[in-house]
Amino acid sequence: MLKDFKDRASKQEPERSRWGFRVYYVLYLVAGMAVLAYLLMDFPSGHWRDIFLFIALIVVADSVQISLPRGGASIYASSPIDLAGIVLFGPAVMAVVETVSTILTEGLLQRRPLFKVVFNVPLLVMTVGVSGLVFRSFGNMTALDSPLFLVPLFAAGFTYYLFNTWSVSFVIALSDHRNPLHVWKQNYMWNFFHILAFLPVGAIIALLYAKSGVWTIALFIIPLFLARHSFQLYIDMREAHINTVAALTSAIDASDPFTHGHSFRVSRYALIIASVMEMSARDLEMLEYAALLHDIGKIAIQNDVLLKVGPLTDEEWQSLRSHPNIGADIVSQLKFLDEAAHIIRCHHERPDGSGYPRGLKGKEVPLGARILNVVDAFDAMTSDRPYRKALPIDRVIEELRTYKGTQFDTRVTDILLEMYENEDFPLIVETDATTEIYNSLVEHCQV
Ligand SMILES: [Fe+2]
Ligand SMILES: [Fe+2]
Repeated sequence: MLKDFKDRASKQEPERSRWGFRVYYVLYLVAGMAVLAYLLMDFPSGHWRDIFLFIALIVVADSVQISLPRGGASIYASSPIDLAGIVLFGPAVMAVVETVSTILTEGLLQRRPLFKVVFNVPLLVMTVGVSGLVFRSFGNMTALDSPLFLVPLFAAGFTYYLFNTWSVSFVIALSDHRNPLHVWKQNYMWNFFHILAFLPVGAIIALLYAKSGVWTIALFIIPLFLARHSFQLYIDMREAHINTVAALTSAIDASDPFTHGHSFRVSRYALIIASVMEMSARDLEMLEYAALLHDIGKIAIQNDVLLKVGPLTDEEWQSLRSHPNIGADIVSQLKFLDEAAHIIRCHHERPDGSGYPRGLKGKEVPLGARILNVVDAFDAMTSDRPYRKALPIDRVIEELRTYKGTQFDTRVTDILLEMYENEDFPLIVETDATTEIYNSLVEHCQV
């Protein structure tokens, strides 16, 4: 009976917490339909050829899709086309263009899950609708004859960016139980510069289309295809990186069966802390690589030292303490792991300067290494080692409290302790590390 009760209780919890997501989702669909209906009341006639061409252009542009790491969100190369369409034909035409092109691209060509397509249609309708209305509100300034149209174009671009990114940040935050501001900062803040770069492209498309005729549009389709090709090369390169890190991590685990899964757990813990500290997506990626490979230098150390049950001699200590440098030297041979190598070199430094190899102090140690240092010790204490059993969790917490500020970075330790007290810090148990690592890298480094 107790099990039954507990099972039901644990099923009800996520059920309750998904309500926010569902309400937002439904309200968003209703709002999208209302905006579309409002825009269609003022639908200009004589634009069928333009609609057809812009749908084709957006379908091509959307095939150049970039999924952002760690957010599950995507940005598309179609933003400048949307902005050009808003300038040329207004929000009603572009709402229709976006409705049809989203159904075609995401529903039929990419076959994305239905709930995503159903959300993205009102998302794009409202994005072009609202930014189009902002553009139109500038009245006479919107005429293409004067460069003054760049002012409303900038206002529309800014609205486009804010409306789109905040709508998506809210849905991701509600579905993953995260703070929307964190989601937005992590995924979209940097995106502002993309929109700034897209604005002149949108202006050029609009001017060429209006002044030189519809066939100039072909000028944009060719570079889009080229961009798509380069992007595919980039995807292939990233996959090679992921495979390299996954293979090296398996080599570490295979060389030391007693610490099997250690690298994976340390990487999970490090990412949890780093996300709370609002590290950028790029820094998170480097930290994940560094965490997975932090002990790779140990493959150069004799097993009788690594697995020794009794106390180590001075010479053995010296050998063990060489692993951060050896690891960093191995990893730095791969150019894409340059930053990770620096983190690896510093993962046994301590705030009071008593660490190794260089005895760096406080902020001289990079943040990634300070995080690694704490979670590495946390995992070492909470898992069995050849020379001792795992310590009870209360004892581990006590150790972290005692050595906070001397052995362990204060801020990182405070975050871990606070999360632990709020039951937000999961204790990861033994896992099929190799598969998990690969899946996780693929998931997080999706491009
Ligand atoms: Fe280490
Ligand atoms: Fe370690």
